[in-house]
Amino acid sequence: MQTVSSLDPLRSALAALRTEGTIALVPTMGALHEGHLTLVREARRRARHVVVSIFVNPRQFGPNEDLDRYPRQLERDCQLLANEGVALVWAPGAAAMYPDGYATSISVTGVSESLCGAARPGHFDGVATVVAKLFNQVRPDVALFGEKDWQQLAVIRRMARDLDLTAPATEAILGVATVREADGLALSSRNAFLSSEQRAQAAALPRAMDQAIAALRGGEAQNHVLPRLVDALLAAGFSAVDYAEVRDAESLALALKHKDNSSRLFVAARIGATRLIDNKPV
Ligand code: PAF
Repeated sequence: MQTVSSLDPLRSALAALRTEGTIALVPTMGALHEGHLTLVREARRRARHVVVSIFVNPRQFGPNEDLDRYPRQLERDCQLLANEGVALVWAPGAAAMYPDGYATSISVTGVSESLCGAARPGHFDGVATVVAKLFNQVRPDVALFGEKDWQQLAVIRRMARDLDLTAPATEAILGVATVREADGLALSSRNAFLSSEQRAQAAALPRAMDQAIAALRGGEAQNHVLPRLVDALLAAGFSAVDYAEVRDAESLALALKHKDNSSRLFVAARIGATRLIDNKPV
């Protein structure tokens, strides 16, 4: 496995890989866990070679967010990726990604405005911008993202469609199902910030979501079910619930009536300084 941190060696390494077959890209911010490794394994099934990018993208963090404390562990991450048969790690520094004079941003309206976009202004502009750059730098045949960040996936697909991207084409931007701990908590690099007490409390999130989904499927109205979900999270030790909403899976418009398979429950809630998000089909 090769690790490169600037564009010229990246281009040479990619040219060599491309002579042997297709390339799958798994974009990450490092601090890899089983969820990322699941993406890598799926990527290996989809292409001859897997390229993983590791870049903690400053443009997707707001001024009061956790950029400084975001875990950085490149050596450990590379070891994990080598064990998974990854061909190439693209790990640029901030200056390689955003050199002096950098002035361009991509803004996707609509799908990026609700949910996390409302709570984190500018976040999805940062995501869309860095992912567009990663796509252009690597020009993969296929790219894989976790469904835990469902809204992110919707924003990236919208961008690819709107900008007529071909590498990858929109249909080759794949979502991979969320990987969960035994108690249902979705894997996330941010789980590492939880104390053991908070980690135990965090299991209330998927549990309360499952209860809410069962009630919605049973025909109970959202205006009863969703406030009960919020109360359950606050009672379990969450300090705040940013949102608990049912939205159309594709457009992310509010889905006031339950329609089979086309709507999802989205929740973001905080335990202390840590913000957890999750989504499930209703
Ligand atoms: O999901 C992530 O880890 C990041 O948002 C991504 C897609 C790598 C862009 O920085």
